[in-house]
Amino acid sequence: MIKFVNVGVSFPGGYQALQNINLDIARGEFAYVIGKSGAGKSTLLRLIYADILPTRGVVSIEENDMNIIGRLQVPFLRRQIGVIFQDYKLLENSTVFDNVKLALDIFYMKRSASRERIWPLLRRVGIFEKRDETVKNLSGGEKQRVAIARALINDPKIILADEPTGNLDEENADNVMSLLLEGCGGGAAVLMATHDTHLRKKYPARIIELDKGRLVRDGFPDVE
Ligand SMILES: Nc1ncnc2c1ncn2[C@@H]1O[C@H](COP(=O)(O)OP(=O)(O)OP(=O)(O)O)[C@@H](O)[C@H]1O
Ligand SMILES: [Mg+2]
Repeated sequence: MIKFVNVGVSFPGGYQALQNINLDIARGEFAYVIGKSGAGKSTLLRLIYADILPTRGVVSIEENDMNIIGRLQVPFLRRQIGVIFQDYKLLENSTVFDNVKLALDIFYMKRSASRERIWPLLRRVGIFEKRDETVKNLSGGEKQRVAIARALINDPKIILADEPTGNLDEENADNVMSLLLEGCGGGAAVLMATHDTHLRKKYPARIIELDKGRLVRDGFPDVE
């Protein structure tokens, strides 16, 4: 579903954030993306939602080469991708409910109908009580859960989660993991960048490890 062939990314100024990355991620697959700060995890995820293009090599999604699809198709592609950004990217002056509602694929949905879709998800991520609160008044972990609800509301085919549990306590992190794993069960490909080794041991899965922009491991953990 997601394929990288000899992918490199250089930023203006010449910094090589990724070098010669080869990857194949199937439908229904869950993989962690790990590595030190600055290793290139977010850059790898940004390539998949066409926030940046590779400097070398090919990134393709369902056989569509991202270098070729063109700007017009990018919004269509993104509709199938749920992204949980490391810095959330929420509308700070809107409510929790409206942040999720704005992401709904069916734009003109009655408030009552959209509630039926949004409320259960807000309950699942544990933010239902704050549904009418303005986002700027929320704690970091609460914002993170809004970002997660927004990313999952359209049942995306690809879920990109950049440190989705970074600000969460264990109970909330468990809720998020079960939502992501359910997404996988439903056929989505899930990539999750994380620094959380405890969580990785609790929910073992494929590990893609980057070190200074290079792929240094891709496989299932031995007993760590
Ligand atoms: N737009 C940019 N211009 C120049 N360098 C950049 C740009 N974006 C990222 N980089 C550099 O690329 C490298 C990889 O960044 P990236 O954000 O992918 O790291 P990361 O693995 O996600 O780190 P963290 O764990 O801190 O989130 C870093 O050294 C960063 O400074
Ligand atoms: Mg990052």
